[in-house]
Amino acid sequence: MKVGIIGLGVMGTAMARIIKENHELALFSRSQDKLVSFAKEVGGKTCKSLEELTDFSEVIVLAVKPKHLETVAEDLDPLMNKETLLLSILGGVSLEILRENFSNGTLFRVMPNLPLLSRKGMIGVADEATISQEIKNKVDELLKGMGTTTWIDEPQMNAFTALTGSNPAVIYLIIEAMVEAGISMGIKADVAQEFVLKTIEGSIDLLRMEGNTTQSLRYQICSPGGTTIAGIEELEKRGVRYGIMQGIKHICAASEGHG
Ligand SMILES: NC(=O)c1ccc[n+]([C@@H]2O[C@H](COP(=O)([O-])OP(=O)(O)OC[C@H]3O[C@@H](n4cnc5c(N)ncnc54)[C@H](OP(=O)(O)O)[C@@H]3O)[C@@H](O)[C@H]2O)c1
Repeated sequence: MKVGIIGLGVMGTAMARIIKENHELALFSRSQDKLVSFAKEVGGKTCKSLEELTDFSEVIVLAVKPKHLETVAEDLDPLMNKETLLLSILGGVSLEILRENFSNGTLFRVMPNLPLLSRKGMIGVADEATISQEIKNKVDELLKGMGTTTWIDEPQMNAFTALTGSNPAVIYLIIEAMVEAGISMGIKADVAQEFVLKTIEGSIDLLRMEGNTTQSLRYQICSPGGTTIAGIEELEKRGVRYGIMQGIKHICAASEGHG
């Protein structure tokens, strides 16, 4: 497919790297210097205008910040036709808002996450009701190679964003806290991180094994009157579970504020 990407920040470049492996790529961004150096490194056609990008592309990925939507849409919408597939990855921007900004094109709201760079991304897609299966297959084809794609209802998109799009930042924060606990107990940072990551990987694999639940596993690890339950009790006393729940819900609420 011929794919155009508008906006070469963190997520635009991440998606471009994977898309380039199987598709033809055209790139457009605000800063020409960044555009040229990225194209030199990864490949792809550099476009001097949105017109050049739309002339080339069957599918366009819109990867600017939500605050730039109106400015970009003003110039982009007149260049699109009914057949143009536009994948917006703008956090918190609903299909309804997108449709208010684009009278042309077939619109998709897509929520990727950064782990797509390791091909283990979790990508949600919401579409307008009238999209044919053939077109949906094209979107699946484009996102293939980035991880797992799931089609979800638009009203769930902000919750999906909180649980997947933003959540890696929360997970990295939790990992940092664990590593720093290790440092505080006298273990070198890189060693502590390896201990923590291996433990997380093992815990996930075990949880995925049939019949296991987080609670059943936790009860196997916390022996009665033991040291682990003492630590869990301290975490609960400090509201760590509540804090994580509120943090994730706050991301969802903030996404609703955008749209
Ligand atoms: N970062 C994530 O993990 C993540 C996850 C899921 C979804 N998203 C969504 O992805 C979108 C991009 O996020 P990001 O983190 O990649 O932001 P970012 O790093 O700030 O990238 C935005 C890019 O858009 C460019 N841009 C701004 N105005 C433009 C215009 N008028 N025409 C063309 N390009 C323009 C910027 O150019 P300059 O370099 O000149 O500023 C920048 O390269 C956001 O809507 C966000 O909600 C991000």
